[in-house]
Amino acid sequence: MRGFSFLALLPLALAASAASVSRRAFDVNEHLGNLAPYFAAPVPAGMAAALPDDCTVEQVMLMQRHGARYPLVSELASITGLVAKLGNHSAALQKARLPAALAFLRDGYVSTLGHDDLTAPGRQELFDHGVKFALAYPHLKATTLLAGAQDRVLESAQWFAQGYFGRAWAALNATMFETIAEDSSTVSWITPMDTCARWDYNYGNNATVAWGTVYLPPIARRLNALLPGVRLSADDVHGALYACAYDGAAHGPARSPWCGAFTAGELAAFEYELDLLMDGAFGYGLPRGMGGVLGALYVGKLVERFTNATGDAQELYLEFGHDTTIDMVLTALGLVKDTPTLPEYGPIPANRKWRTSYQVPFAAMMTWEKFTCKSSFKGPQIRLVLNEAPMPLTTCKNMNKTYGSCALSDFVASHAATAKISWGDAAWNASCGAGY
Ligand SMILES: *[C@@H]1O[C@H](CO)[C@@H](O)[C@H](O)[C@H]1NC(C)=O
Ligand SMILES: *[C@@H]1O[C@H](CO)[C@@H](O)[C@H](O)[C@H]1NC(C)=O
Ligand SMILES: *[C@@H]1O[C@H](CO)[C@@H](O)[C@H](O)[C@H]1NC(C)=O
Ligand SMILES: *[C@@H]1O[C@H](CO)[C@@H](O)[C@H](O)[C@H]1NC(C)=O
Ligand SMILES: *[C@@H]1O[C@H](CO)[C@@H](O)[C@H](O)[C@H]1NC(C)=O
Ligand SMILES: *[C@@H]1O[C@H](CO)[C@@H](O)[C@H](O)[C@H]1NC(C)=O
Repeated sequence: MRGFSFLALLPLALAASAASVSRRAFDVNEHLGNLAPYFAAPVPAGMAAALPDDCTVEQVMLMQRHGARYPLVSELASITGLVAKLGNHSAALQKARLPAALAFLRDGYVSTLGHDDLTAPGRQELFDHGVKFALAYPHLKATTLLAGAQDRVLESAQWFAQGYFGRAWAALNATMFETIAEDSSTVSWITPMDTCARWDYNYGNNATVAWGTVYLPPIARRLNALLPGVRLSADDVHGALYACAYDGAAHGPARSPWCGAFTAGELAAFEYELDLLMDGAFGYGLPRGMGGVLGALYVGKLVERFTNATGDAQELYLEFGHDTTIDMVLTALGLVKDTPTLPEYGPIPANRKWRTSYQVPFAAMMTWEKFTCKSSFKGPQIRLVLNEAPMPLTTCKNMNKTYGSCALSDFVASHAATAKISWGDAAWNASCGAGY
């Protein structure tokens, strides 16, 4: 908690909690969007987290996001820019009278972050999730693991496997571990956007640039009034917000002095930026229903496996991918959809459904369960458990409101058109264009 000033957060925390869907006290680690350390999502009011006692989970598909990582190269640049600027003003900062929340700047702020790779807390998250999963479904056996072939995803799958299988993993590794390329010539339900010709990260990134012109300058003005002569730019402030998230990702949650430098309202504006990025590049913000078309590849796999359409379905699938994988699946199913779409110049819709912090923190777990019951439900049912909380399948007809579940047959009927979409068919080409 070094450098974290609770008092600095207090006044705005009240405003933020009134506007938030959750009535929990403001905890910065639950407002860092897809850069948040793993935490269990809140169970929606009125819903039961556990299934009735007479039910048995018979089949599971897990899409597990990689754990905490260092910043991307593009994000690291704004942190190193900030560090350089503060370094240029170190003499003045040592002498300045600084408020408690910024007093850490007197000693200088150094950053030793790497880029892209899994961090120590990331390794811990995946090991823990392997253990957690083994305890949750002791009766189901995995025969393979499938990971997107990116270093942090591969390493995540390995730590998960250590937690799940223990030392036996060393021998199983050779036969069980499968990878799929993450590139523009490999059709994959883990990274479908890579084979969509018209997909562009800038659909999300441009939205964050627009929102940045609204929320970053006022923060720069506030901090500059407290830091004589430093003249932080909007990009420097962006770097300081990233430093808050990534110091935690690298060194452990709440280890950044920067988190305490911001008010709860300022952190909520950063959280909204991350929502805009993910919704814009991997969700409802994409044009021509592209987000749903991309996520449809996973929905097709889900239906194929849960209906055993090809006769070779396994009881347990352990698969490793990205925040983007999960967000595209939610979009394909029409879940957490905001109407109208999220405004890129604000104001922040306080009751928005799209919540990156709850959907895809580091090490997010999207768990699909197929279950049957002795008496409470008739026939096979399906449920989505996202980060340990049931996510109601609101777009499935006859959903049960307590469990958020529905009959597998209703799920298949409700999403038949989506499940049918495949790379290069008419629906795909209409969104993505032809070719890779
Ligand atoms: C730091 O100061 C040097 C020398 O005045 C200058 O060239 C450089 O642009 C400054 N860097 C930043 C990030 O302000
Ligand atoms: C598993 O196999 C992969 C690929 O052969 C290898 O890189 C890795 O070190 C092995 N060990 C573990 C513990 O995953
Ligand atoms: C993003 O913004 C740039 C600069 O305004 C523009 O040229 C580009 O077309 C935009 N891209 C998308 C996908 O909106
Ligand atoms: C799928 O069907 C095959 C052939 O009937 C069966 O052996 C297998 O156990 C089924 N898989 C699941 C997950 O029910
Ligand atoms: C949901 O299912 C449970 C168990 O069968 C049942 O008791 C309950 O009435 C159902 N709730 C709704 C809203 O359908
Ligand atoms: C979609 O585009 C591919 C080329 O990428 C083409 O082979 C295919 O026939 C197209 N599909 C339809 C339904 O037109």
